[in-house]
Amino acid sequence: MSQPETTAPDRTLVIVKPDGVRRGLTGEVLRRVEAKGYRVVELRLLTARSEQLAAHYAEHEGKPFYGPLVEFMSSGPLVAAVVEGHGVVQGFRSLAGATDPTAAAPGTIRGDLGRDWGLKVQQNIVHGSDSAASAEREIDIWFGAGA
Ligand code: RTP
Ligand code: MG
Repeated sequence: MSQPETTAPDRTLVIVKPDGVRRGLTGEVLRRVEAKGYRVVELRLLTARSEQLAAHYAEHEGKPFYGPLVEFMSSGPLVAAVVEGHGVVQGFRSLAGATDPTAAAPGTIRGDLGRDWGLKVQQNIVHGSDSAASAEREIDIWFGAGA
């Protein structure tokens, strides 16, 4: 039986990227999140608008993979989720594994389900916020008033 929590849980923004949705892996990703014990508190299937991607990936603007990344993230529907739990920002990054799916450890989402397809940008199934501040900024992009 679950016990009352003594402090407020953390939140993170998880995205099942268009490759994950296309490959039918949305359920598997959410299953792993829930099996870990985290809670999905918001969930949306949508096709990203270019302003949302520009805001979401502002830190990568100007990098060689930026154009291919935005094109990839626009290539089909994605699933955005707000996931809650103590330590969930770091915890989901651990579940996701390393950015490069070839290097990602077996047991992780990217390590088990992803691979290098020889494309201009790594298609690695999921996104997870990298800090609490990023999480709040990203949740606003995908679930805020202007989403
Ligand atoms: P994410 O933001 O998607 O959770 O992934 P991350 O923190 O592990 O990686 P990040 O450095 O933020 O990069 C964002 C996404 O851009 C693509 N990428 N491809 N050299 C490459 O081909 C390359 N570098 C980055 C990946 O899709 C990465 O997840
Ligand atoms: Mg990142």
